[in-house]
Amino acid sequence: MFDTLKKSVAISAINYVPKNSIIGIGSGSTINFFIKELSTISSYIRGVVPSSSMSEDLLKQFNIPIVDLNTLTSLDIYIDSADQINHSLEMIKGGGGALTREKIIASVSKKFLCIVDKSKYVKKFDNFPIPVEVIPISLNSVSREVVKLGGIPKYRKNFITDNGNYVIDMYDLCTNNSIYLEKYINNIPGVVSVGLFCVRKADLVLVSYSNRIDKISL
Ligand code: 5RP
Repeated sequence: MFDTLKKSVAISAINYVPKNSIIGIGSGSTINFFIKELSTISSYIRGVVPSSSMSEDLLKQFNIPIVDLNTLTSLDIYIDSADQINHSLEMIKGGGGALTREKIIASVSKKFLCIVDKSKYVKKFDNFPIPVEVIPISLNSVSREVVKLGGIPKYRKNFITDNGNYVIDMYDLCTNNSIYLEKYINNIPGVVSVGLFCVRKADLVLVSYSNRIDKISL
């Protein structure tokens, strides 16, 4: 059922792609549906900045031009899904491990459009594990800091990010002060980035239900 909802929200996001633009896109199964849909209008856009090698490979399969972020100063829109998005439009992302590039591309985008199925739109984050990408030698030192914060760190086995790093999934962290938590974790030596997207949150979210798509902005 969720695949149907992911597909329907991905299709509706096509209306937000400006003509003649270069857009940023995220990673994951929802974005895979979006890329397939984007291929039907690829002649209307100039290219895409992808946030992962997986998205890049799929874009290439559909002959959609890839653009290097270093050749641009900004993007009109970044379109991505999330693991959870709360009613303040803050997100937990990185279930697929592409959080760092996602955060970079989102940071230079004028608008962040988040597209999710109804299961991911929550009033408050409800204990979904928060991923953190770390430099390999800092796996244990960062894990100890997570424990000090009251969390339970779990090393994501057999997983290396596109940047050659490890991921720790942090369980049971209190997210009441989400912006403080994001900044605090980002400052732990060895952390590349944390999957809390609260400082740069979404501007708009599309949420798919079986009979409708809701559009929510603050
Ligand atoms: C990848 C992400 C994805 O947006 C998130 O994991 C949702 O994925 P899916 O669309 O497969 O449910 O943050 O790093």
